[in-house]
Amino acid sequence: MSLKRFGVSLEEDVLSELDQLVERDNYPNRSRAIGYLVKKSIVEQKWNSDEEVAGAVVVVYDHSKLELHKEVNAIQHNYNCLILSGQHIHLDEHNCLEVITVRGKAHKLIKLRNKYKGLKGIKNVELVMSGTDD
Ligand code: NI
Repeated sequence: MSLKRFGVSLEEDVLSELDQLVERDNYPNRSRAIGYLVKKSIVEQKWNSDEEVAGAVVVVYDHSKLELHKEVNAIQHNYNCLILSGQHIHLDEHNCLEVITVRGKAHKLIKLRNKYKGLKGIKNVELVMSGTDD
């Protein structure tokens, strides 16, 4: 992939925030930070589309609620065509963390995430998606 140069004009305060972002997230330079933000924005636009993306659903719940434990599992069986793997971590006496790696059409992954969001007693659900093309 060849690099192209172009000029960017930013307001002073936006440039200052960009520099803070470069520092905070450890980018080697402003160009890499801007490139990352553009790609991220493009991936997010694909979220409601038929685009194929890969990612992970992260779920935190209280395992002592037995029904919840069963429901979290049942969703994984029902959506096995989207799920690549699952990892269960016992966080502490009560809380479990499931990291479910997924691949499929973006809108289907959102539907899967929303199934978890709809369960009563779930503490947190996050979906991270990444494009699979360059
Ligand atoms: Ni557990």
